[in-house]
Amino acid sequence: MTKEEAQVRIAQLSHQLDEHNHRYYVLSHPIISDFEFDKLLEELIALEKQFPELLSPNSPSQRVGGAITKDFETVIHKYPMMSLGNTYSEEELRDFDERVRKLLPDDEIEYVCELKFDGVAIGLTYKDGELLRAVTRGDSIQGDDVTANVRTIGSIPLKLKKGDYPSEFEIRGEIILPRKEFDRMNAELADQLAEDGYSDEEINEQLYRNPRNTASGTLKQQDSAKVATRKLDCFLYALYGDGFPFKTHFESLYKAREWGFKISEHVKLCKTMEEVMLYINSWEQNRDQLGFDIDGVVIKVNNYRLQQELGYTAKSPRWAIAYKYRAQAAVTILNDIGYQVGRTGAITPVAHLKPVQLAGTIVKRASLHNSDQIEKLALRIGDTVMVEKGGEIIPKITGVDISKRPIEAVSVVYITHCPECNTELIRVEGEANHYCPNENGCPPQIVGRLAHFTSRKAMNIDGLGSETMDLLFRQNLVHNIADIYDLKKEQIAVLERMGEKSASNIIEGINKSKEVSFERVLYAIGIRYVGDTVARKLARHFKNIDALMEANFDQLIEAPEIGEKIAQSVLKYFADADKRKVLDRLKNAGLQFEIIQDEANLPLSDKLKGITIVVTGTFENHEREELKKLIELHGGKNGSSVTGKTNYLLAGADCGPSKLEKAEKMKVKVISEKEFDVMIG
Ligand code: IVH
Repeated sequence: MTKEEAQVRIAQLSHQLDEHNHRYYVLSHPIISDFEFDKLLEELIALEKQFPELLSPNSPSQRVGGAITKDFETVIHKYPMMSLGNTYSEEELRDFDERVRKLLPDDEIEYVCELKFDGVAIGLTYKDGELLRAVTRGDSIQGDDVTANVRTIGSIPLKLKKGDYPSEFEIRGEIILPRKEFDRMNAELADQLAEDGYSDEEINEQLYRNPRNTASGTLKQQDSAKVATRKLDCFLYALYGDGFPFKTHFESLYKAREWGFKISEHVKLCKTMEEVMLYINSWEQNRDQLGFDIDGVVIKVNNYRLQQELGYTAKSPRWAIAYKYRAQAAVTILNDIGYQVGRTGAITPVAHLKPVQLAGTIVKRASLHNSDQIEKLALRIGDTVMVEKGGEIIPKITGVDISKRPIEAVSVVYITHCPECNTELIRVEGEANHYCPNENGCPPQIVGRLAHFTSRKAMNIDGLGSETMDLLFRQNLVHNIADIYDLKKEQIAVLERMGEKSASNIIEGINKSKEVSFERVLYAIGIRYVGDTVARKLARHFKNIDALMEANFDQLIEAPEIGEKIAQSVLKYFADADKRKVLDRLKNAGLQFEIIQDEANLPLSDKLKGITIVVTGTFENHEREELKKLIELHGGKNGSSVTGKTNYLLAGADCGPSKLEKAEKMKVKVISEKEFDVMIG
């Protein structure tokens, strides 16, 4: 294909892909399958690879991300990004209406009511119908340029449809994270943390708090490819610029929708305050059906001329106001408190509630975190409690209505013994949780560890999930991870819901797991705080289990990314004679306990993806070649001389002046060995 032919085909494909993208993300009405879409996209990517000079920043291929932004550039807003006055009551809203009518006594007032999206404000500038820049609100005067990340958001058009818009204008809106995507991200994170050995309590603390903060954090990610994997969405609600072909806000939204923007369907023109109140109250009732969070309703004067006459205060427009909803709460009865024991022995108290409807779901349980929280709330069984879901995932008890306390309500006495094995609980200095120390005799801890060992990211033994592990444990067939390798087909075949076929598959899976690499075996054996990444680092540093077992504290913290907490935990694990015995049995069973040479060259991360570094001089902690290797292992490229393509000059002692001078001239940042270490984490 000639360059000219490629140019025509690229334009064709881009147009088609833009259309399909709009149908999928804005109209929710695709007319081709994902497979067909991917085929078109693959063709485009291949052509752009063949003719890189034909790649445009707004090509549909750029939506998958890849660009890395190290520091987000600060951009001054052409129009300050103001906020809105807030109200929580009908009375205040009526005051607003009166103020408006007083200032415009001769005009007929119409309001536009819109949902108040609970997300991150964004200003998108379009030039000649193409996305030029996307900037966050920042301090309202200046914000961060997050264009590379915003390009990955499917519902934001990179090229507009043909229309009568001015050559340059800005449109503002809110980037949101749909609740379904938020839940998916949390489920994935929880799985990962559970597999890494964190307790339920620790997992709860690390989960994404609410969709808004998560959207905001995502937008500030340096790696746009990561942003692309999280399905952010964006509703637009205000146009800024000169030469627009309309006179009212309502019309502007209609037009913007025609140009390709995603505008909410729930925009309503209201002539009276009664209509406005109806809109507010109905969305307060139905907000759970939206699929994303709103925190109120925005009421705007429709006519642009009247907006102009009303003008602005120092902080916000006089022509609009936000009616905010209160956090969603419910009142119910505390029936009981239950206690869960995690794989690590950590105890998590859980409130059992009389089922109550809250934010679209029926809530039966609320998290109580630990004994301190129960004490702080001074809870009694039978109490009437307030449960809130203020944008957070797990509902929490926020208060007790003591006036409703029944006389027979009993104080909560925190358990002193494990609910599963009756061992006396311990509380470690500085930690909020109680623990059951009976790691080798407490069933949920044992089964939890066994299931972790066989899990996908660990030994990946199909058919040996937690239910089967529980069964094998209760049948006295497996007590520790080494027992798995002594299992016989006949023992498995006779178990509930098993048979010859599934037993053979399990045995086959067990045998196959003997080929699993050392780093995954190290992860599988369940050393606290040694997740898959840490296991990989330890395996590559120490190369085999014997070296790791013999390492002292100082040697452990010398390994990359290993801190004191992990080092202590590794020492504790190997100091345990029972664990050593189990490891010996695993070795005899034929598991991999040393790194195969090839693994040493596997990538460590993609932190330096798309980044070229030139290394020069001598260094304190690493040999120069070692640094070059590290650059590659973290996905970066080594440059031999400073050029326009160089991102950083990694300069050690005794580096000649020429490279430094060149770096200065070409505005290439010079970094030290320490800064490099921070970069690769
Ligand atoms: S209009 C001059 N409309 O709420 C302000 N804002 O403090 C124009 N928001 O900063 C904003 N949904 O980030 C407008 N339908 C909507 C909105 C909305 C959410 C956000 C926006 C604004 C904040 C109000």
